[in-house]
Amino acid sequence: MSTTPLNDLFRYPIVQAPMAGGASCPELVGAVCAAGGLGFLAAGYKTAGSLYQEVKQARRLTGRPFGVNVFMPQDGPTADPAAVEVYRHQLAGESGWYETPLGETDEGRDDGYESKLAILLEDPVPVVSFTFGCPRPETLAAFARAGTFTIVTVTSAEEARTAEAAGAGALCVQGVEAGGHQGSYRDDPAEEQPGTGLLTLLTQVRETTALPLIAAGGIMRGAQIAAVLAAGAAAAQLGTAFLGCPESGAHPLHKRALTDPLFHRTALTRAFSGRPARGLVNRFMREHGPYAPAAYPELHHLTAPLRKAAATAGDAQGMALWAGQGHRLARELPAGELVALLAAELDIARTGLDLRNAS
Ligand SMILES: Cc1cc2nc3c(=O)[nH]c(=O)nc-3n(C[C@H](O)[C@H](O)[C@H](O)COP(=O)(O)O)c2cc1C
Repeated sequence: MSTTPLNDLFRYPIVQAPMAGGASCPELVGAVCAAGGLGFLAAGYKTAGSLYQEVKQARRLTGRPFGVNVFMPQDGPTADPAAVEVYRHQLAGESGWYETPLGETDEGRDDGYESKLAILLEDPVPVVSFTFGCPRPETLAAFARAGTFTIVTVTSAEEARTAEAAGAGALCVQGVEAGGHQGSYRDDPAEEQPGTGLLTLLTQVRETTALPLIAAGGIMRGAQIAAVLAAGAAAAQLGTAFLGCPESGAHPLHKRALTDPLFHRTALTRAFSGRPARGLVNRFMREHGPYAPAAYPELHHLTAPLRKAAATAGDAQGMALWAGQGHRLARELPAGELVALLAAELDIARTGLDLRNAS
């Protein structure tokens, strides 16, 4: 079966980012796809079985193409058990405060990668994207044979070269502004880099490869989509902009926090998961971020009961409030209306660019 080109997968170059943890549920995907965008389910943290249920539900809700995002197994140094133990002690007070034991850290590092691949190859979906690494060439070739378009998330020109050599169909270029985890191939604190802003990274990657590029990070308005298209992207991927939609499965406190003046800035932190991720700065991040070791997914499992208890208690200060730098620009609209508004803004911005170029 031949793979559909990227541009045939959407009417507007607007991709709703996969958001693990419940936000990018089938209802959100269905609404985005119906409006002409490309919606994504997130396989991260789910069992292969519940992923398959979500795929079936998305198919019931839309006949349009949609994607599934898969976490790559972790590459790079394994966590130092002693550092994880020190962090466990550091969180003892949180455990007492929320009256819940901390989670077990030995729940596996691969997020069920192989069983998710098996399901997605057995019953293919139109698009599969990967984050935290690049699949082997044989895996990408197997998806191409199944008629699935593949996308690999990159955070540097070097990662882009690797993904192109492996046979990716397109790249999702993720700037440091992005909400949630940075999708870098490795999390090696010895090679720690501050991360690159989207427009600079996009330009670097554009000059590295001819593959179609999807730009992600801090995009909240149609004019920003026009800007990344002008810089060589084929589409824009938006996460935070869709978090607050009524169809999004994000926790109501998370949705509200996006525009709450109490949360006025974001930062990258390892506090909740052990891997750098961008979220609204809250008490938990301030108190524990500086001490959190590079230990993903160990810290993700360790803090899971705390995050759950904080959400149950209605305490946004103890939750992982993933959000991109543009969070204050969030608009609480139904997803279909948001896609239509972004497309209209994009049109206006492009017309303005054409007029300026013509004069
Ligand atoms: C709540 C949340 C969860 C996310 N989960 C995933 C995920 O499971 N897989 C993935 O590739 N990216 C994930 N991301 C990152 C997005 O794909 C995208 O890079 C990011 O949302 C773009 O930045 P923006 O939020 O400023 O639009 C997540 C982002 C957020 C906000």
